[in-house]
Amino acid sequence: MPYGFRTIIEPFRIHSVEPLRFLTEDERRAKIREAGYNLFRLHADDVLIDLLTDSGTGAMSRDQWAAIQHGDESYAGSPSWYTFLEAVQELFPFPHVIPTHQGRAAERILFGVLGGPGKVVPNNTHFDTTRANVEFTGAEAVDLVIPEGLEPQAIHPFKGNMDLARLERLLADRAGEVPVVFVTITNNSGGGQPVSLENLRGVRDLCDRFGVPLFLDACRFAENAWFIKLREPGQADRAIPDIVREIAGLADGMTMSAKKDPLANIGGWLAMRDDALAERCRNLLILTEGYVTYGGLAGRDLEAIAQGLRECVDEHYLRYRVRSTEYLADALDRAGVPIVKPAGGHAVYLDARALLPHVPPLSYPGQSLAVALYEAGGIRGVEIGTVMFGRHPDGTEEPAAMDLVRLAIPRRTYTQSHVDYVIEVVTAVAERASELRGYRIVEQPLQLRHFTARFEPMEG
Ligand code: F0G
Repeated sequence: MPYGFRTIIEPFRIHSVEPLRFLTEDERRAKIREAGYNLFRLHADDVLIDLLTDSGTGAMSRDQWAAIQHGDESYAGSPSWYTFLEAVQELFPFPHVIPTHQGRAAERILFGVLGGPGKVVPNNTHFDTTRANVEFTGAEAVDLVIPEGLEPQAIHPFKGNMDLARLERLLADRAGEVPVVFVTITNNSGGGQPVSLENLRGVRDLCDRFGVPLFLDACRFAENAWFIKLREPGQADRAIPDIVREIAGLADGMTMSAKKDPLANIGGWLAMRDDALAERCRNLLILTEGYVTYGGLAGRDLEAIAQGLRECVDEHYLRYRVRSTEYLADALDRAGVPIVKPAGGHAVYLDARALLPHVPPLSYPGQSLAVALYEAGGIRGVEIGTVMFGRHPDGTEEPAAMDLVRLAIPRRTYTQSHVDYVIEVVTAVAERASELRGYRIVEQPLQLRHFTARFEPMEG
């Protein structure tokens, strides 16, 4: 409670603004029909409040824009690379840092080296691109989050934790087939829920016992560290960078998207301790991303990331960030809208399966709710459920563990009145949830179908 008052304010003022475009409900109904009822296919100008993702959509600071002017575009050994490297190693002191244009490029390179048929990669919950990159190599992706992590209403301070007993069983049975154990912080697909230091230490112990490396998918590491400070016994007085360094110290490497907590619009990296692995990854990097000191990024991007990394561990920022997400969650909870509890760091997840019990999972309740939010109020969220995860590589389909609609909050972008508007729209749609219909898919690709599939509402 800085200054002794209760209200937590945005720790910035606004310097440059972007206009919003207002459509009528009839116009939105026409736009989404033309888009095959897939929110990814909309023209973003037709969206009023865009909560599709918190990835690359944050507002950069004055100091990040200034850093961009320092961007040095030398092909090899740019000073901007050294600025980036120093900022990354300040928090994640891995000897090898390999820049990539975004997180999934780091995943593709790492699993290109470590994956392959017969391999199995455990994670608390794989994000969609992570799962797809594992499966693309022929390996198997297994999610081992604790049981509470799959129950939207269950309250647990660290719902992103790995189920250590199940991980131990998997390693005891198949350690030889596990090239790496992954932990995603925070656990995006499981509700943006954090992982505790205690749990990470437990995973580390198992990895040591079975001789398997531990990697972090660390996109939202700062929010995870803030939750540790707030919720984990004995952590309240620690500085955030200190907690982050302890997390990094428990791992052998990481994949990263700089589009999340590092407050940049593009970028990512892969980092590790192992020299031989790093060499194999760098060879793939040069083949497909770029030279080892820029990895598909411009020098100016490296500068923006370095500055963003310093800003995202600021406690005033993190307090505002996590509290503003919780503000949305609390209001929806009070209005009786079923959500994943407690609130995640970067997003609020609506429980579409609970809100639309009359729409079976294979008729995509999450898709139905997401479309209704757009039609009613121009809000774009994203289905995280059976559309995203229900289809197996062999083409068969089954209900995903949960059917959620994620409302992701871009960093430093929307104000409290935008969020109040979202609360009003979601509440109004929830009140007439029993009228919402299911959808069927009329066109879909083999992988990552949610990005491009076309849907049709079901009759009656
Ligand atoms: N890992 C996690 C946990 C993510 O949330 C994402 C992206 C990635 C990896 C891939 O990173 O987009 O830079 O290639 N998540 C975004 C989202 C897209 O909307 O949650 P990327």
